[in-house]
Amino acid sequence: MHPDVESILFDEQTILNKVLELGNQLTEDYRGKNPLFICILKGATLFMADLVKRVNVPMEMDFMAISSYGASSQSSGVVRILKDLERSIEGRHVVIVEDIVDTGLTLKYLRDALMHRHAASVKIVSLFDKPSGRKVDIAPDYYGFTVPNAFIVGYGLDYAEQYRNLPFVGVLKSDIYATSKTD
Ligand code: PRP
Ligand code: MN
Ligand code: MG
Repeated sequence: MHPDVESILFDEQTILNKVLELGNQLTEDYRGKNPLFICILKGATLFMADLVKRVNVPMEMDFMAISSYGASSQSSGVVRILKDLERSIEGRHVVIVEDIVDTGLTLKYLRDALMHRHAASVKIVSLFDKPSGRKVDIAPDYYGFTVPNAFIVGYGLDYAEQYRNLPFVGVLKSDIYATSKTD
């Protein structure tokens, strides 16, 4: 537990069990395809690390960083690439690895951008899905858990860059973000 966390939604073992399930499914679906798994920094880092250990096919990894659309332009859908892939994805089977799909703006942008680079396929795996937050019509191809409309942190998910290192996922106490002056 953590003093800023009100309740635990998914403990460490529950998360790892689900990651194993997702890894097994991806192993089946990507056999012989030499997929490229793309981790979206920073939230997806813990999920990526645990997931790829459970994907038992030859594969490669790369990393992308996307600008947050921030407080002032929250619904604009304007997303910027801060760190791009190292290599061409032309003809590759791409798996975007995310921690959570909320509004869907990040993934909508990313999926379209990667399709335009002529990938053979682009699929999304997200550990968490928050359908109540959706602003654009997009859904992960693979997901672990549906989450309620609450501020959740841990296992990669942050609030003001904190709490990513928690091994579980929980609901942040509301007084933490109500009193904070940072985003
Ligand atoms: C969070 C999360 C997803 C995205 C989901 O990332 O990790 O990438 O937001 O939100 P959306 O569906 O509304 O686009 P954030 O921009 O906070 O960056 P981070 O991963 O570095 O925390
Ligand atoms: Mn993110
Ligand atoms: Mg964040």
